[in-house]
Amino acid sequence: MTKKRVFSGIQPTGNTHIGNYLGAIRNWVARQDEKENFFCVVDLHSLTVPQDPEELRYATRAMAAVLLAAGIDPDKSTLFVQSHVTAHAEGCWLLNCVTPLGWLQRMTQYKDKAAKQESVLTGLLDYPVLMAGDILFYDADEVPVGEDQKQHVELTRDIAQRFNSLYGQEFFVVPQPIIPEVGARVMGLDNPTAKMSKSSTDKRGHAIRILDEPKEIMRSFKRAVTDSGNEIVFSADPAKAGVNNLLGIYKAVTGKSESEVEADFADARGYGDLKKGVAEVVIEMLTPIRERYEYLMQDPAELDRLLAVGAEQATAVSQPKVNAMKEIMGLVLPK
Ligand code: TYM
Repeated sequence: MTKKRVFSGIQPTGNTHIGNYLGAIRNWVARQDEKENFFCVVDLHSLTVPQDPEELRYATRAMAAVLLAAGIDPDKSTLFVQSHVTAHAEGCWLLNCVTPLGWLQRMTQYKDKAAKQESVLTGLLDYPVLMAGDILFYDADEVPVGEDQKQHVELTRDIAQRFNSLYGQEFFVVPQPIIPEVGARVMGLDNPTAKMSKSSTDKRGHAIRILDEPKEIMRSFKRAVTDSGNEIVFSADPAKAGVNNLLGIYKAVTGKSESEVEADFADARGYGDLKKGVAEVVIEMLTPIRERYEYLMQDPAELDRLLAVGAEQATAVSQPKVNAMKEIMGLVLPK
């Protein structure tokens, strides 16, 4: 049986947090043997909002090191940086020319981000087309992502189907979003009604970053917003969103059922014990990753070598696909 092909990506900006880990990275790592995998540090996506060039350069290598430290194995998966494979930007243009503007204007992430900025860059609107290309140029069957990226994968399906119907062929594979049952939407600790997000990690107590030291993790959980009650149970009540989020993190980290999780806190004396209990399992999960990350970052030349191998493997798949698109669309390929 041939393995299903998986593509997923992560932006190198800011600090990777437990939402990224539980919603995406951990699931990539877990299914590496079952699938044929392409994982991409999407630096071109980061340019859709203003960046400090030095910080972006550093964050790109650091992101690759985080993924390796979390367990992405370059012998099993192709790990690469998006801008190293020119097919992505090139093919994005071709997809732009079959994607109606209205489809992009409807994207909720675009609307949210654009509303917060005075001047919106064209790249921000076009971001989902670049993402669609990432997936489609690899003929990916599956796209493991957190809940917030589902709409972009659905748009990818629409673009694939439109291209296929315009050019009369089954040219693109129409991919499936794969959203985990737990951990798909980790909320901010300071505001459990908003998802944990990289752009807010600078705010004290908003996120737990993958690379945070144990003391910092404990401090952030202790500051987490809860409510004035003391009941430690899963609940859909918006007033209990903070406790629900903490229990959800604990559930995702431990893999326990909701009743097992509640049983673990049955003797807790209050939310202080809950916060401490959640912090402890998160620290245990993240400590080995942080240690491996620190080790990997000591050898940037080796990181660059691994990324060069990844880029070569990725180019071998995506460039022929983009060349075939050009041909179908009526461009003359150079001899
Ligand atoms: P990015 O970098 O914002 O996030 C990377 C992954 O983490 C997931 N995620 C979360 N999961 C649970 N709870 C949260 N609070 C949380 N925040 C983020 C995201 O859903 C994502 O899976 N556009 C994408 C990157 C991308 C991509 C692609 C993904 C570019 N090309 C092709 C898949 C396929 C992004 O900005 O993810």
